[in-house]
Amino acid sequence: MNDVMETLNEVVEYLQERGVGQVDCGVILGTGLGDLASKIEVEKEWSYNQIPHLPVATVEFHFGRLLYGRLGGKWVLAWQGRFHYYEGYTMEQVVMPVRITRLLGGRAMLISNAAGALNPEHDLGDLMCIEDHINLQPDNPLRGPNVNELGSRFPDLYRAYHPGLRAALHRIAGAQGTTLRAGIYASVAGPHLETPAEYRYLRTIGADAVGMSTAPEVIACAHMGMPCAAISVLTDACDPDRLAPVVIEEILATAQKSEGALSRLFEQLIVELDEALVA
Ligand code: HPA
Repeated sequence: MNDVMETLNEVVEYLQERGVGQVDCGVILGTGLGDLASKIEVEKEWSYNQIPHLPVATVEFHFGRLLYGRLGGKWVLAWQGRFHYYEGYTMEQVVMPVRITRLLGGRAMLISNAAGALNPEHDLGDLMCIEDHINLQPDNPLRGPNVNELGSRFPDLYRAYHPGLRAALHRIAGAQGTTLRAGIYASVAGPHLETPAEYRYLRTIGADAVGMSTAPEVIACAHMGMPCAAISVLTDACDPDRLAPVVIEEILATAQKSEGALSRLFEQLIVELDEALVA
């Protein structure tokens, strides 16, 4: 067995020995988007530094906590705090939550993030269902010898964002009276925000939003054949002609204002998970 599988199996064993049984789906809670965690009937809980091999989240506003429990009638693993490439982790570390969720039996991955809005028709605080991405990260979680136990050498990304999950999200948003945009997410390394010229470039190549995460995790999902859906909270306006200084606290405050609506969407999607997956 190679090192990647050995590491993942040790984490899986650790969690199973401590009470993780059935897992229906995983959720990654992005920057400022921890609200969903409060809705979970928690059975087990770990801080990331208790779990072998798991990197410790370094961003101060990310909790670094794994919750296992019931939500929407399902068993969920909620990763509160993600690993970003800009923090210095390898891409293999960045995608560990996704791979562990799958190896524990997860049938879907729901991902959230905070992102800058490039599409002038979208408003701050809006939620955007990611239809597809443009990966501009300098590294890739699948680089290196292929881990055959996880997936094939050349996975396709033709439907990386599951159409049934996306359709369900739009239907649920309509029923809940939540505005849900649809768009393309450009994934960059960060940690700095972009120059006006870079925002113009990102818009030109077809992106509606830009952020520093998600594409690596979605690539890892595609590799394992795990359906996923991702929602961005649009936290700052990236209009190259009217760029104002961005304060990270403002990004967090905007994310927090929308986290209730995001939580309601994800919770109902989990209720309807099986129907959405066959659609
Ligand atoms: N650029 C990159 N990442 C981001 C942004 C942005 O404008 N806003 C939130 N995350």
